[in-house]
Amino acid sequence: MLDLISIIIIVVLLIVDYYKKDKKTEHTWQCLENNLPPGENGLPVIGETFQFLLKKGQFFKEKAAIYGQIYRTHLFGKPTVRVTGKENVRKILYGENKIVRSSYPTSVKKLVGCNGLTFTSGLVHDNRKKHLMQFLRTDFVNQHVSGLSEFVKERLQHWCNHSSINLYVETKTLITEIAAKFLISSDIDKSMTERLVPLYEDFTSNLFTIPINIPGFGFHKALKSKEKLKVLFKEALLSNRDRSLGRFPAVLKAYGASLDKDTFDEDAFLDGVLELLWNASETTSSSVFCSVYLLNKHPDVVSKIKAELVENEITSGSTESLNHKQLQSLKYVDTVVKELLRVLPPIGGAYREVIEEFYVGGYTIPKDWTVICGIRETQENDKSSDDPLCFNPDRWNEKNSSNIPFYTFGGGKRICPGQAFAKQVLKLFIVELVRNVEWTISNEDCELIYFPTPQPKHIMKASFHRLRKFDQL
Ligand code: HEM
Repeated sequence: MLDLISIIIIVVLLIVDYYKKDKKTEHTWQCLENNLPPGENGLPVIGETFQFLLKKGQFFKEKAAIYGQIYRTHLFGKPTVRVTGKENVRKILYGENKIVRSSYPTSVKKLVGCNGLTFTSGLVHDNRKKHLMQFLRTDFVNQHVSGLSEFVKERLQHWCNHSSINLYVETKTLITEIAAKFLISSDIDKSMTERLVPLYEDFTSNLFTIPINIPGFGFHKALKSKEKLKVLFKEALLSNRDRSLGRFPAVLKAYGASLDKDTFDEDAFLDGVLELLWNASETTSSSVFCSVYLLNKHPDVVSKIKAELVENEITSGSTESLNHKQLQSLKYVDTVVKELLRVLPPIGGAYREVIEEFYVGGYTIPKDWTVICGIRETQENDKSSDDPLCFNPDRWNEKNSSNIPFYTFGGGKRICPGQAFAKQVLKLFIVELVRNVEWTISNEDCELIYFPTPQPKHIMKASFHRLRKFDQL
């Protein structure tokens, strides 16, 4: 969130920027000579960071409208290139450790810490990822289907008991609780999650910001929340380390096992826990929100899901929780999940630092620059489709579906290790939603904003009602 001081600075800079516009033409010619992508540098050092923080996702949309698939800007102290297009993005994602390396803005790096996966590279990264992937595989996810099903059903009932709920806040709370309980510790109880959720919100909403650690600035607030979160995790996990380690969900044991035992550092371990929660929750919660939002707009898709549930004898109002075999048989719901992840990918861009100059789309990208792979734009501008913006799960059953660009979980060495978990949670949520409740959204045409993840621009209220026997309609 931007504070008052930042807003004043932004206004001043925007005025200065206005008077600098004359210089732009001259600058563009210089860049053409160097074969750099078109774009603007903005102000010295600050570049266009404030414009970006003010406009968020809209900033990239406006740039793409002027410059096309590949353009240059200057963000968070570094010259930055945003690259879109199926082949261009592929080149970068699969060029990890050869031409690029994972690198997020300083604020993210300092807040998330360098002890997890995101900010390690080479062998350390490979080793940590291998451990984590062993436990995040489908069989781990399958073990938890019944537990997750119960959890989701209870929450839907809770929503039905209120005249309306704040949809985005509630879906985010639900997934933060699921991630904490199923990935961190089953001992995280309700009173703990009530403390955890607001701290986590302060932390994540200030991740992409100017790293000024002074009271009043978002970065300072996020650092304070991070410390409190780590105390909370410690309370849940490490008050008696030997005993607690035995009770860690396997995923967290994997994180622990991947750290060097002789130099086991509790603080580093807690950083890793927070990174896992951030990766898992921020993304999946946005997709759960988007599922309610998109299904509300597409009753035809809801009807098809119901038909598939009936066909597989998964009925409404059943008190039984789902099992993974039942979920496995729901192929249409798989396409719904994939399509919602394509249309509204939670992560719009993957950040990289150039370690060796390379060429993409006819431009030179110099060493030490930042590259952002535009995942969202690439999927929105799919050249192989007439209607890439349309939410149409059936596109995944068409003959040429393998041509559809899909980078929602990234690619190459950095590919998301949690995708099986995320997809299963989404699938399960959609099935429980459709078989148990009906819902209305008060301001269903409310605009979405896309940064850091898709969410409503204004409060979106939803009312939920228990559904009985859709299978007999
Ligand atoms: C819909 C949900 C999710 C989406 C769309 C998503 C997307 C992504 C993407 C695009 C990346 C790569 C970023 C990059 O290339 O810089 C990534 C990395 C990562 N994700 Fe996910 N993710 C989701 C859920 C999860 C879950 C549930 C977990 C954990 C259980 C998780 C853990 C991670 C981790 C640890 C990384 C870092 C991997 C690395 O640096 O090698 N994610 N995710």
